[in-house]
Amino acid sequence: MDLKQLNAFIAIADLRSFSAAAAKTGLSQPSLSRVIKQLETDMGVVLVDRYHRPLHLTEAGAFFYDKISAILTEIDTVTSMTQRLSAPSAALNIGFVPSVLYGLLPEVIAALKQSNPDIEVNLKDISSYQQMDALKHGEIDVGFGRFAHQDPWIQQILLRHERYVVALPKAHPLAHVREQRLIDLANNRLILYHQTHLPVAKTLVTSNKTSRTSTAATFTTDAKSSAAHAIPNSEHSLINEPITEPLLHLFAQYGISPFMTTTVSDLQVALGLVAAGEGITLVPASLQTVRTEQISYQRLIHENVTSPIYLHTLKDFVHPKIPDLLSAIYQVYEQRGITYRQQKFTSMP
Ligand code: BEZ
Repeated sequence: MDLKQLNAFIAIADLRSFSAAAAKTGLSQPSLSRVIKQLETDMGVVLVDRYHRPLHLTEAGAFFYDKISAILTEIDTVTSMTQRLSAPSAALNIGFVPSVLYGLLPEVIAALKQSNPDIEVNLKDISSYQQMDALKHGEIDVGFGRFAHQDPWIQQILLRHERYVVALPKAHPLAHVREQRLIDLANNRLILYHQTHLPVAKTLVTSNKTSRTSTAATFTTDAKSSAAHAIPNSEHSLINEPITEPLLHLFAQYGISPFMTTTVSDLQVALGLVAAGEGITLVPASLQTVRTEQISYQRLIHENVTSPIYLHTLKDFVHPKIPDLLSAIYQVYEQRGITYRQQKFTSMP
């Protein structure tokens, strides 16, 4: 069995056609058929059901496809990492979620450039989840996100926890209340905007259901008629569908289910709706400079209502400039009096 056979099999399984797979692999159709036949003979297993159109995999073929495509992805990752190890890119490619751009990212980049005047930095706006693949494929060298990821290829450093603040329309009756409690906000429409949900875990679930849209300009409104309520502990239920939406998760930790939710595609749209008086939302404190003419930002009394900031990089290959990047982050924290715990990478250049 060799890589040529495996890649040919994956192409057929993906495209469900010998002619399309032949075009993709650059083989003639008869050669492709011979390669697949040889693979089946070597394994002693029929992988492709040739008697139906479009082509189907046999049950054994589907199992093999599932396992072998994961292995081929790993081979791609290892190949790309090995190439980078031997010749790291001169530029430092940084992935980030939009909320960190409103925070300290520009200051961190400025501090890094001060200590490395010749460094070339490329910034890429990319969701926390997509950063994992982008790291493995060498599209970015480091990613800043707000979600923890369990991935055998990735190491993450928790940089700090940032407090959430509540964003209310300026005309809202609570707009001038300095210290807010989640329970007092439950009677409002809560605007949800996260793209990446928390990993599934056994968690408290409330009666509201949420749904997401992916188009930038549209939004959905959920649970239109449910009344605001704090759920007594006895009504909490551990069921199969946990709350994975981060803001609802925060409310649920206090046994609260917001009156109504509207889901939008990103943070900017959420703040736009707050500015338009459509509801309230919670955002990391660094966002409180956005749309201040229409939005009032207030602190929450709950100290543990926070959003973490993670630095993600590969476990086995740390770009040579990343230690300087981490020093620049800690320098900015020190200048701003932000408390943090110094962390180290498992593999330093
Ligand atoms: C921060 O806000 O802590 C932060 C943002 C971007 C990069 C590093 C740190």
